[in-house]
Amino acid sequence: MISNSMKKNIQGGSVIRKMFEEGIRLRKQFGADQVYDFSLGNPDLEPPQEVLEAIRNLTAGEPNGLHAYMSNPGYPEVRALIAEKQALKSGLTVKADSVCMTVGAAGAMNVILKTILDPNDEVIILAPYFVDYLNYVQNHGGKPVIVQSDPDTLLPVIENIVHAITPRTKALIINSPNNPSGVIYSEAILAQIDQALRNSGQTIYVVSDEPYSDLAYDGQTTPSTLKFIEHSIVCTSWSKTMSLPGERIGYLCISPRCEDFDAMVVAVGQCNRMLGFINAPALFQRVVLHSIDAKVNIGRYESRRNRIYDILSAAGFDVQKPAGGLYFFVRCPIKDDFEFVASCVEARILVVPGSGFGFPGFFRLCFAVPDTMIENSVNAFMEIGRRYHLI
Ligand SMILES: Cc1ncc(COP(=O)(O)O)c(C=O)c1O
Repeated sequence: MISNSMKKNIQGGSVIRKMFEEGIRLRKQFGADQVYDFSLGNPDLEPPQEVLEAIRNLTAGEPNGLHAYMSNPGYPEVRALIAEKQALKSGLTVKADSVCMTVGAAGAMNVILKTILDPNDEVIILAPYFVDYLNYVQNHGGKPVIVQSDPDTLLPVIENIVHAITPRTKALIINSPNNPSGVIYSEAILAQIDQALRNSGQTIYVVSDEPYSDLAYDGQTTPSTLKFIEHSIVCTSWSKTMSLPGERIGYLCISPRCEDFDAMVVAVGQCNRMLGFINAPALFQRVVLHSIDAKVNIGRYESRRNRIYDILSAAGFDVQKPAGGLYFFVRCPIKDDFEFVASCVEARILVVPGSGFGFPGFFRLCFAVPDTMIENSVNAFMEIGRRYHLI
């Protein structure tokens, strides 16, 4: 028999998965080109040429140990190169031992949470949030404490964070560019978070989940978390930057200013092993070493974002242009986001209710979708706009 906690987890199900199943049903009934599925966050661009070339070159000759185990935190030369990049971005002295190669950003988060959490330690999570954060915290005996962001700006509210701090608070998870809200935390916001945590008089680690850090639009860049937040750990991956989500390659980088740095460096390697990851995928550590600066064509995501912004605005929605990431997070024209999303399904538009991200009254729409689907969806959005008297 499976565990009671997993029984509960399965019964709850994820709203994203429910939309996925709805999509299968609709496509069967109406045909694939008649369904406008904006529910999943699966990057649809292929990896950049440099990445494909690195894969071909690395696998062309004799393997020579290419597929062997290595030390738990990863290949030293890969860690050193990443440390160099993080040092350049932050202005800090970051050495290879700060870096542990991981199974995606998700693996990085699980490794660091296992490293720092004792049973019942509290972890502050800012809503709207990536729903798996709840699982990651609970995986390691932690207690998620949800803190609401500002419903107008979707940015963190510092006073709300301060109110949520207790003597058991061990960490705060931040995510910028944000899934689902698309906001980017400015230098000022990061500095305010740092100050608020310092004022608490206790050490609170900031686990900064950054898989979208290269997906910033309108010429923006994302500030360095290591630079602005003292006890910070960056968790990131090449899932979005290089469109490699299935290859599960990422890393964590511990700030040299983190309390207990030396012990942490040893513990993360150990946790990589204890969680059963052992090490990050060997081939893809080498792939990123050889193509470290490669990125997908971010301009393509930006032009889709712009087109969808125009469509939603024309349909009368109260919409904020996402500064980064792959999602719009839009206020529903009615209070009940489940009811609104169900009525979108009638128009064959699939989006995800904000309640799935701990933020009711909104819906999430992913713009990592083909241009043709975006164009085909125009009439359906206009129909929704008319149905709710937005136009
Ligand atoms: C906010 C956020 N964090 C983490 C992840 C997991 O990233 P990875 O594929 O690198 O594990 C995702 C995936 O979509 C995400 O949206």
